[in-house]
Amino acid sequence: MQVRQLFDHDTWTYTYLLWDETTKEAAIIDSVKEKFARDSKYIRELGLTLKYALETHVHADHVTATGLLRNEFGCQTAVHADGGAKCADIQIEEGMVFSLGGQQIHTLHTPGHTSGDVSYVIPGAVFTGDALLIKACGRTDFQQGNSSALYDSIAYKLFTLPDETIVYPGHDYEGFTSSTIGEEKASNPRLAGKTKQEFMHIMDTMNLPKPKRIDIAVPGNLQCGLDNNAA
Ligand code: FE2
Repeated sequence: MQVRQLFDHDTWTYTYLLWDETTKEAAIIDSVKEKFARDSKYIRELGLTLKYALETHVHADHVTATGLLRNEFGCQTAVHADGGAKCADIQIEEGMVFSLGGQQIHTLHTPGHTSGDVSYVIPGAVFTGDALLIKACGRTDFQQGNSSALYDSIAYKLFTLPDETIVYPGHDYEGFTSSTIGEEKASNPRLAGKTKQEFMHIMDTMNLPKPKRIDIAVPGNLQCGLDNNAA
């Protein structure tokens, strides 16, 4: 499986393009509406057939390009059923598998940042969205966020992957691009050596400001980034 990491500097969002070398079937994870032109040009240059536009969750900080990508490439859009985005073709449930040629993307439900967060697993790597960030994790104070659920998702699902598994996060604000499960277990300051109670206390007392774009981003993403869902 080929993987490319793309960046949106306005929202610090990573988008990932994955494809099977043999069939050129592709999936994009966490696209950004403002980067639709860049990504569609790149997909065409590589000669890929975009099969899926996957979301790790309903984002609060940027609007997705999934609706535009579906219109352009005829791909299917997918987000977890608990995200409430009725516009998506596929309402993801735990364990769902997406195939690109003979290769597979497995879905783990990793709620806590939102109730509808998923992580996507391929051999040797995991795309964690905002559930697990490098030396951090997604906030848990809106969109049905829950610090207890996030601890369980990380400790009992993501941290059971092999230590050498590459972690590709949904964002990074410090310039990191990837990590590994082993690195995060050893050095993530919210998790390494912390009990569940300590983790929950950290998350529940962060008092973060409201995201700047939340009032535009969440309603926009519930319509797959299209003004009119019928489009
Ligand atoms: Fe998020």
